[in-house]
Amino acid sequence: MTTARIAPSILSADFVNFEADFATIASADLIHVDVMDNHFVPNLTFGLPMVARMQQVTPKPLDIHLMIENSERWAPGYAEAGAYSVTFHAETTDAPVALARRLREIGARAGIAIKPGTDIEPYLEILPEFDMLLVMTVEPGFGGQSLIEHTLEKVAKTRRRIDAEKLDVWLQVDGGIDESNIERVAALGADTFVAGSAVFKNPNRAEQIALLRDKATAGCNHRH
Ligand code: DX5
Ligand code: ZN
Repeated sequence: MTTARIAPSILSADFVNFEADFATIASADLIHVDVMDNHFVPNLTFGLPMVARMQQVTPKPLDIHLMIENSERWAPGYAEAGAYSVTFHAETTDAPVALARRLREIGARAGIAIKPGTDIEPYLEILPEFDMLLVMTVEPGFGGQSLIEHTLEKVAKTRRRIDAEKLDVWLQVDGGIDESNIERVAALGADTFVAGSAVFKNPNRAEQIALLRDKATAGCNHRH
């Protein structure tokens, strides 16, 4: 029996009141933090000083999603700030294994993210070097988009590889996940679910997190 993990994305939170919004999502498993640099994606959020401050007030482990160029230069700082998990984009480095080893050495979980148009195959070969693989189910940059169906093939493929090699790697999806599709995506193999608009649209966030977790857990336990 697998229990799915829910990671609300604070991209949908109140940017001048993160501490109050954190309290409303304290029943989540992780808190997903989208760092954007206006170069890798056409949007800008916040950087290390703000994440370091979030680290002091968060009720749950921070799951950092770096949508930034030059990840080799910047990612280790997030691990040093105490982030539980640091995920960088495969498209931003030629040396993903070295960067993952560096993050793990500092004490963070290491994640690698793949954009919708990026081929998964080369990254399946290096999966044991990571604690998590993130299949982007929308083009990174903005919340509130619709899930891109063809990305789900990569979820199924990655699940087959994780199971065949009995790897201890979490499989995360991010973008357009809501109560209408989470069970189906879980059944295809994801076990860790980012949800921004789908959590924050409900004033009762705890109720929404529980609903998403229940549906995802049902899907995880009815894999194809
Ligand atoms: C998009 C971000 C997501 C975003 C998801 O680039 O990586 O984490 O917040 O938002 P929803 O769940 O609304 O699609
Ligand atoms: Zn994200």
